[in-house]
Amino acid sequence: MTGTVDAPGLHADGPALSELPSLRESARYIARSGKPTVAQTLERARVAGRVALQPRCGVGGHREMAALLTHLEREGRADILTLTIDSHTRLGRFDHAARALRTDPRTLNGYPLVTHGWRRGRELNEAVAAPLEIRHGSPDPRALFQVSVASGITSFEGGGISYNLPYSKDVPLAHSLAAWSEVDAVCGELAALGTVVDRELFGTLTAVLVPPSISLAVSVLEAVAAAAEGVRCISVSYPQSGHLSQDVAALRAVPELAARYLPAGVRVHAVLHEFMGVFPRERHHAEQLIFFGALTARLGGASKLITKTYQEALGIPDAEANAAGLRLADIANSALLEFIPVDEEAVAEEQEWICREVAEIVEPVLAARNLHGAIVTAFATGRLDIPFSASRHARSAVIPRRDAGGAIRYQSHGGLPLSAGSVARNRRLLAVGRPDAPAAQDLFEALQSDIDYFPQLFGEPGASGLLQ
Ligand code: 5AD
Repeated sequence: MTGTVDAPGLHADGPALSELPSLRESARYIARSGKPTVAQTLERARVAGRVALQPRCGVGGHREMAALLTHLEREGRADILTLTIDSHTRLGRFDHAARALRTDPRTLNGYPLVTHGWRRGRELNEAVAAPLEIRHGSPDPRALFQVSVASGITSFEGGGISYNLPYSKDVPLAHSLAAWSEVDAVCGELAALGTVVDRELFGTLTAVLVPPSISLAVSVLEAVAAAAEGVRCISVSYPQSGHLSQDVAALRAVPELAARYLPAGVRVHAVLHEFMGVFPRERHHAEQLIFFGALTARLGGASKLITKTYQEALGIPDAEANAAGLRLADIANSALLEFIPVDEEAVAEEQEWICREVAEIVEPVLAARNLHGAIVTAFATGRLDIPFSASRHARSAVIPRRDAGGAIRYQSHGGLPLSAGSVARNRRLLAVGRPDAPAAQDLFEALQSDIDYFPQLFGEPGASGLLQ
């Protein structure tokens, strides 16, 4: 790997990393496995005109994890399968993960791949026909990535901004950006050996009321950084807001932004995350939202959909609910649904404004000589920002709101360098059907109501317990 970075509490070295196979050996293993890579599966789905489907899934025990994967392949017909990694491993606390494995693996909220080791990773890989992706949330994923490549896993989620600010309180962005660029550089080395690892970015960020232009701006910056290190396949994920025209526009903006900001040799896919906010509790309500998400992915031309389940409001789903979520989403791939249109005019207008806002946010940063340095400075000054950040390294001065139609707008754009035209449009759209800006003490309630949008739409109490 190139360069080294250091920060307290973050470790590049996990247990037994010294006995990892070489990159060349891992590339050979992947080529000989007879399995498609995630990049190839995404490409095949595009050619076939369907949205590839992928669940989240991860349990602590090895045998249980293998059983879960085979169940989701058999009963849910997933195109791509996931190892969701446990929180200890995400934070580099491999000793905690090892202790939990010895005492009770069921206490883990995902699969501790580093602790189980790459040989077991290969066993999981060989247990199913679908290729695997690692989904986690680590600001410094270097050890996890090394074990993932050695396991023959061909997709790795995250990025130096998107896996830091939503998850960590106080990891400096300079650290996470440097750690992730080491990961991206290894992807470049693997590409030179003939193995393309898909790098999915986490545009979902803090998951709640994320304005599309913030999600896409962060992804553009991470994608430019990844491409510079040699990454050849990038999945840009975007969280469903629940407003059809806005979501379709955001997904269709992905290839437009890729053409504008990325080198031609990089393959870029749009990925939709089914709604990541507060889900309705009742099964038939949750299922309507799941199907709506799947239809949104289809209409937006997404290559892949990350699915939810009817147990979302209750926590981590069981295997049966997870498979049911995949089967339900697949109905939206039906050839019978070709008649469903979108309002092309509304989508085109949204798309134009989304791309304009993204340009206003990213272009000053991309103009700097040192991209990482410019990103760190921009977050410190609020010229880059995300709402509801967990981290002290973003200001979270942006206040999003839903407009009367449900689309997410900027009530306050904080320090983002949006043009007067963009700011005026956001303000105008928020004022339609809601002439008075809420007083400061009402803002909390107004935001809570926007957050509880779907439970309220179905007449359920929201997370706040409010029934409106
Ligand atoms: N298995 C399945 N889903 C998981 N999620 C988190 N951990 C797991 C896991 N181990 C899901 C949550 C939520 C999203 C953030 O990730 O249920 O939908």
